[in-house]
Amino acid sequence: MNVDGKAYRTVWTDNEISSFSVKIIDQKKLPFFFEVKELFSVSDVIRAIADMHVRGAGCIGVTAAYGMWLAAKESRGDSIQLQSFADALMCSRPTATNLAWAVERQLSVLINADPADWTEIALKEAELIADEDANWCRSIGENGKELLLDIAKNKSDDQTVNILTHCNAGWLAFSDWGSATAPIYAAHRDGLPIHVWVDETRPLNQGSRLTAWELGQEGVPHTVIADNVGGHLMNIGKVDIVITGTDRTTRYGDVANKIGTYLKALAAHDNGIPFYVALPSSTFDWTASEGGLGIPIEERNQDEVRRIEGLSAAGELIGIELAMPCVTYANYAFDITPSRLVTGLITERGVCDASEKGVMELFPDKKQLCSS
Ligand code: MRU
Repeated sequence: MNVDGKAYRTVWTDNEISSFSVKIIDQKKLPFFFEVKELFSVSDVIRAIADMHVRGAGCIGVTAAYGMWLAAKESRGDSIQLQSFADALMCSRPTATNLAWAVERQLSVLINADPADWTEIALKEAELIADEDANWCRSIGENGKELLLDIAKNKSDDQTVNILTHCNAGWLAFSDWGSATAPIYAAHRDGLPIHVWVDETRPLNQGSRLTAWELGQEGVPHTVIADNVGGHLMNIGKVDIVITGTDRTTRYGDVANKIGTYLKALAAHDNGIPFYVALPSSTFDWTASEGGLGIPIEERNQDEVRRIEGLSAAGELIGIELAMPCVTYANYAFDITPSRLVTGLITERGVCDASEKGVMELFPDKKQLCSS
């Protein structure tokens, strides 16, 4: 997608096998500063994922895939070392399933290959994973756009379609296009009048800092709202559809996503508003139990809630305290929305019911992966 008119992906290399570095857009600096950060080692990659310089299910998967390229080099043909880098990468964030999916995919192509070819093979595979992620998101856009066109067709008065989204499931959260934003970008480029309500998404404000920035760069009309406004907007008829992303989805259609998603789904259900979740197939956890039981919910540092970060009058990124130091906070980063509250899933293969039947009809080839 475009940044000041120039096309970017979120993760890339300069395509020289000898350079051995991975470039990322540093999400911690956005929207105030656009900076490209270079990662030179597996531990740089782990730190970038754990500290959220890159974040979002697809983006951390792609970053980890490139991390495995660096791991292939640093392992020097030692498969035990390679496995231990893979384990460390997989542990860098717990909830999004794309991370383990990408690392395991790299391991499966490397394990039977001649170690002399590891770096070349791992680079090719990382690029394949990044391209696939972008293409899948583009298809999600085409499939989801139809839902927005249908809503516009059935609107009698104001033709503008109002979409509410939570957190950032935009192109920054993938290698390109995004999941929840892909239908928005596709419809906007086709000239459909749309407007997006962007949940601010405390504590880290991925909505106001990342989604609003992205939509602004693409010229999509949007308004940032505090997280607790969505229910009221739905109640007064100002939301036509909710589209969110997901970090891990069961084959039964249950969705683990950024904390607060569940509350939006409840409000949408109560107001009869369609609640869709957009995802590439790499975000399915084919073995996860019904209801999402057992999906690890990341608990992050209390300081993320205690403090807030923003731009000072002097133009510096600063954090300030929001309460007295003695206050205790809890910082659950994700919640689970049960499938009964999800109207449908928008995938690269099409839109399906959030049910085992709906999902398996679209992905019959994944049956052998389903073990629970
Ligand atoms: O904690 P984060 O910012 O890494 O959370 C992940 C997310 O970006 C959201 O949950 C998003 O809606 C789904 S990821 C495509």
